[in-house]
Amino acid sequence: MDKPNSDKILLAPSLLAADFSRLGEQLAEVRRGGAAYLHLDVMDGLFVPNISFGVPVVKSLRPHSDLVFDVHLMIDHPERYLSAFVSAGADILTIHYEATAHPREALEQIRSLGVQASISVKPDTPVEVLYDLLPLCDMVLIMTVEPGFGGQKFRPEQLEKVRKLVREREARGLSFRIQADGGIGAENARECAEAGVDVLVAGSSVLGQPDPCEAARAVLRAAEGRD
Ligand code: DX5
Ligand code: ZN
Repeated sequence: MDKPNSDKILLAPSLLAADFSRLGEQLAEVRRGGAAYLHLDVMDGLFVPNISFGVPVVKSLRPHSDLVFDVHLMIDHPERYLSAFVSAGADILTIHYEATAHPREALEQIRSLGVQASISVKPDTPVEVLYDLLPLCDMVLIMTVEPGFGGQKFRPEQLEKVRKLVREREARGLSFRIQADGGIGAENARECAEAGVDVLVAGSSVLGQPDPCEAARAVLRAAEGRD
């Protein structure tokens, strides 16, 4: 795995936008396109008004890919399922600040399970609520849409949270990565990178495209300012 704060921007295609009848093949395509992570959106129909997939899908994909499995838990009381997702093959677990009364304990539990701990805030939650938790985080996920559905419009004002996190990380000598998720594609990847995003999640713009390999390359080229 690349080291935190490496200059290279990482791409995390979201499985939500994939053709579920040919997942194995699609993972190979995004891998060829330069993806580093696979972003897996788990939704419970309670924390967000949508249901996606859970532990069995993570487990059955694990032997088919060497991508970093980046599991975004949009579920209430995520503590209940942390160890199940780690056993299934997650490498990074992101919980939502709004989904638990005990975010500190949940982050500590994730690290004690031997994987990377990450926390996210929805667009209406100020990023400052995370400041006390930052030393426990390997990554922080800023939602650039309301969680629950792929294909929504990117909210550029959310990048202000990314800029604040960059300053906070620098001032306190921390090393978490910053991820952004929602409505990201070649048209705004550079803006995200310039704000300080380390890991771009991209659903519709990569696995939602007819050629996910080329689509992944296009987002990375744009992020790096090479197009
Ligand atoms: C939204 C999910 C996202 C989603 C992104 O709740 O967290 O990861 O799959 O999809 P796009 O890139 O289409 O907004
Ligand atoms: Zn997500």
